[in-house]
Amino acid sequence: MSKGNISLFLFFCFAIGLPLWGMQNNKYEGESIHGCTGECYENWEQETGGVIALASAQAEARAVASPAELGQAAYSGCIACHGSGGEGGVGPALVGQTGSDIYGKLVQYKNGETRGAQSALMWSQSATLSDDDMKNISEYVESFSVR
Ligand code: HEC
Repeated sequence: MSKGNISLFLFFCFAIGLPLWGMQNNKYEGESIHGCTGECYENWEQETGGVIALASAQAEARAVASPAELGQAAYSGCIACHGSGGEGGVGPALVGQTGSDIYGKLVQYKNGETRGAQSALMWSQSATLSDDDMKNISEYVESFSVR
């Protein structure tokens, strides 16, 4: 083979080999989910139960979780300032307070009320919380005291 032929050969190896390799390695992502129809979609449906089964499994998991469990997930954003056990740090200690104490204070912050000198910090924290989030978090924080 001449030098020219070898580089032509190598070029084709990459030009054909790389896309083939890519397709095999990205079963779903590579073809993008929109391109995953026919057999590809059936395979995916068989493996996962399909879109509806996934959605209902997620809804079931949420329905089974107790408020305190849901609150634990929502509290993850509070740990940096209030501690994993509510012992306080940047923010005041929450341990020892009742759920309704906590809920009442969160509602005040959410309404933009000033409680202490650093209330502005909590305005932004509570802005993204739903009423359910605040109730769940309050249940979870109350559970610190009984540990
Ligand atoms: C960036 C730090 C920070 C984060 C994150 C944060 N807080 Fe706070 N938190 C504070 C500070 C500071 C105060 C005191 C505010 C004041 O002066 O009114 C406070 C006050 C509170 C209070 C009132 C406590 C009391 O007894 O007066 C509650 C309840 C509270 N936070 C709950 C939460 C919850 C729930 C989250 C998570 C969704 C959260 N905080 C996230 C810093 C933070």
